[in-house]
Amino acid sequence: MALLEIVKYPAPVLLTVGKPVEKFDEDLKTLVKDMFETMYEAKGVGLAAPQVNLSQRLFIMDCSGGEDETQKLALINPEIIAREGSQEGDEGCLSFPGIYQPIERNMRAVVRYQDVLGRWQELDGTELTARCVLHETDHCDGIVFLDRMTILKREMAKRKIKRLQKTGKWE
Ligand code: NI
Repeated sequence: MALLEIVKYPAPVLLTVGKPVEKFDEDLKTLVKDMFETMYEAKGVGLAAPQVNLSQRLFIMDCSGGEDETQKLALINPEIIAREGSQEGDEGCLSFPGIYQPIERNMRAVVRYQDVLGRWQELDGTELTARCVLHETDHCDGIVFLDRMTILKREMAKRKIKRLQKTGKWE
């Protein structure tokens, strides 16, 4: 297993629509394992392929932070097939270290995806699970959480990023 480098905004790969995953082989399993190691090391609950510089439609998540094996999921070629309600809550992103802002998301989301063996599955989640699924599926579409902020919060976040870039704390 290997730790992967997490790319930070505004890396172009984060702003690019990912390509569908077509090969469900050993390389894919290795990538998923490496992504889990990288996510746990960074103390995140979700990590998408574009964040490790791969323009592909796949992400991993574990909203239990490693406590519950059943919540450890790899979602490949995800498609949101239903969503409802709304929730507001602070959100962060491993590609935006130190930036936390309230983001409105659906309270519930149903995602259709393939597992590492290529089998189609569905996940119906609420609250943090829905938030995570929507945030990570956005990454597969080249959308970052900055794009989901209100204009005011987005400007605040951009100013903070500029400050961090100037002091060398963002690269
Ligand atoms: Ni993110």
